[in-house]
Amino acid sequence: LPSSTDHSPTPAPAAAGRSSRLAVVGAGAVGTSTAYAALLRGVARHVALYDIDRPKVEAEVLDLAHGTLYTGSSSITGGDDPAVMEGADVVVITAGAKQHPGETRLDLAATNVRILEQLMPVVQEQAPDAVYILVSNPCDVLTLAAQRISGLPAGRVMASGTTLDTSRLRWLLAQQAGVSRQSVHAYILGEHGDTEFPVWSSATIGPVPILDWRREGRKVFTEDGLDALADQVVNAAYTVIQGKGATNYAIGVSAVRIVEAVLGSQNAVLPVSTVLDGQYGISDVALSVPSVVGRGGVREVLEINLSAQELRRLQHSAQTLKQSAAELGF
Ligand code: LAC
Repeated sequence: LPSSTDHSPTPAPAAAGRSSRLAVVGAGAVGTSTAYAALLRGVARHVALYDIDRPKVEAEVLDLAHGTLYTGSSSITGGDDPAVMEGADVVVITAGAKQHPGETRLDLAATNVRILEQLMPVVQEQAPDAVYILVSNPCDVLTLAAQRISGLPAGRVMASGTTLDTSRLRWLLAQQAGVSRQSVHAYILGEHGDTEFPVWSSATIGPVPILDWRREGRKVFTEDGLDALADQVVNAAYTVIQGKGATNYAIGVSAVRIVEAVLGSQNAVLPVSTVLDGQYGISDVALSVPSVVGRGGVREVLEINLSAQELRRLQHSAQTLKQSAAELGF
């Protein structure tokens, strides 16, 4: 029996059910960050990492597995055999070309849609009942493509979308307001890309409308200041890519937050991207609006109040994405 001084770490309680299985497609920086975040947060009983590059994926799985004594009760396997994804409840797709300095996410569309067209049937054969989360970019265009290719219900095919951008926004606002990030309620919606926009009309800190927030008796935010802060969010990825060549940590934890909502049946409101069917007067394009995410994927797309300008910006996002998708035959 372990002695009373046994220091083995108490496994973190998995947020998921007994047999929950997460598959991550792509063992690059984003895929491995996603797998690592999933192990740390214990969102699935088992994590499987799949990539066609056998030496790379096997090395990444080993490196991740070597630390599982200290990451909790989740296990990890992987390889270049699609069978490693068998029975996955959630599949996060990170495979594809990544943005280089000066490239937009939409510039990746043609290359990554072609990869997706090859990939989806392979993954679906192993995980026919899974919820799919597209992270590869342009994630909104790829979500429309994946939904059309797979024929799955729209709620089972989503993109991380502006879940990441909303985290960036709340981090910046919390810093300036001097409050916890969890007390900032503001969204970035639309394209996960250059046409994304902040929803200031309903933004609050706690119950306080954002423009009324005071710190040491003085108002903190002005309309111009908020828009400048939103510009930082829109350009955040370019800034990081310029410095380190890619983004991976923030997108990894953002994707895992969504996985946690699905496998934990949380019914969490998150700005994920799914193919709309008339909401906000928009159809046949995927973009981010607040949605209820739980068992089975997106359970409800919320139609929130938007100002006239915000609605115009959402429709501009939709048009931009529709044009990109149409150029690729979707
Ligand atoms: C970013 C990538 C994931 O915004 O699009 O960091």
